[in-house]
Amino acid sequence: MNKDLQEKGIEASNQDFSQFEQVNKLQSYQLTEHQGEEEFDTDYVIPTCDMEQYFNGGEAGRKAFSQQLGSALEGIGFAILTGHGIDQALYVSCNEKVRQCFETTSIEDRLAFEAQRHGSVNQGYFPVRKTTIIHPDLVEGWVFCRRAFGLADNADFDESAFWPGVGYEPVFRQLVQAQEKLILPVMQSMLRYLGCEPHLYDDRLTDTNFGFRLNYYPSVSASDRASGAGRMLGHEDVDLFTFLPAPDVDGLQVLNRNNMKWIRLNAPPGSIILNTGDYMQRLSNDIFPSTTHRVSHPVNPELLNRPRISFPMAIYLWEDEILEVVPGTGEPKYPPVSALQFHTAITSKYYGADYAVDQQSSEND
Ligand SMILES: [Fe+2]
Repeated sequence: MNKDLQEKGIEASNQDFSQFEQVNKLQSYQLTEHQGEEEFDTDYVIPTCDMEQYFNGGEAGRKAFSQQLGSALEGIGFAILTGHGIDQALYVSCNEKVRQCFETTSIEDRLAFEAQRHGSVNQGYFPVRKTTIIHPDLVEGWVFCRRAFGLADNADFDESAFWPGVGYEPVFRQLVQAQEKLILPVMQSMLRYLGCEPHLYDDRLTDTNFGFRLNYYPSVSASDRASGAGRMLGHEDVDLFTFLPAPDVDGLQVLNRNNMKWIRLNAPPGSIILNTGDYMQRLSNDIFPSTTHRVSHPVNPELLNRPRISFPMAIYLWEDEILEVVPGTGEPKYPPVSALQFHTAITSKYYGADYAVDQQSSEND
């Protein structure tokens, strides 16, 4: 990172990092929160889309779901999914497992798995304030990709290479397998809305890669609060889309780029928050935006004493796939690019310039 940016630190704006971006992002915002100076949009309602229509409504239901989902995403890049069929008890179990993972292991145990790039994705453990080099986020995170799970296509899987103990992987595997079943319905519905062949990505998204992230936001101290530090500063997701089971402590805020106000997003327990990322903005020729969001402190001060837990699942394409604007979306604004090059070019803003991998040198990764 250049010296100017280092001096600016968290006072930088997202536009200071525009050289890394691989899709158009005209919105300009400060990375850190500016309490008292920012405006909130209390009118915008993030749409709720009922997947029951997709699963049980026949052709008419799939069409209706596609229309609802597509217009929600085109409007704000976020939607709330209900009727997805995943048992809420599984989310409760996962929540407890995340708590156990961060509260019963030592920092040394966790640091033994400190994150490293493998393919596109920085995988492993991220200590508090170390999520990225530009975001001193008040969160501990842990990223597990497909290879960290004992799935059918992962014959030589070794649990101890990824997990800080036994018993975590089987619970989280249930969740990623359940959420995997939503990938094609969501992608087909988006493609249908865009006016192209709904099954265009079926093969590429079968057994695709993903980043399943455990987030543990410790309770907020008075000094953290006074410093203006946020739980997770403003950013856009890199992926195709993210499934975020509704967390039980509030704080997620979404930037409405039409008025540059923040929307507080509170989804009902058991629902899944869905948002589109940079891969999808690229494929959809900017129709589905990669929307800025962040995690702030909870509105209710009593909740400051509670950790916040979340476990988003980011859906990726494998590194050798080509990201190409899909047919039917007008004159392409972007040329084709490999997923590896695209992904690491963006994320080098978070992990340093040497994180970027160009297509020619990627052979041995
Ligand atoms: Fe995010």
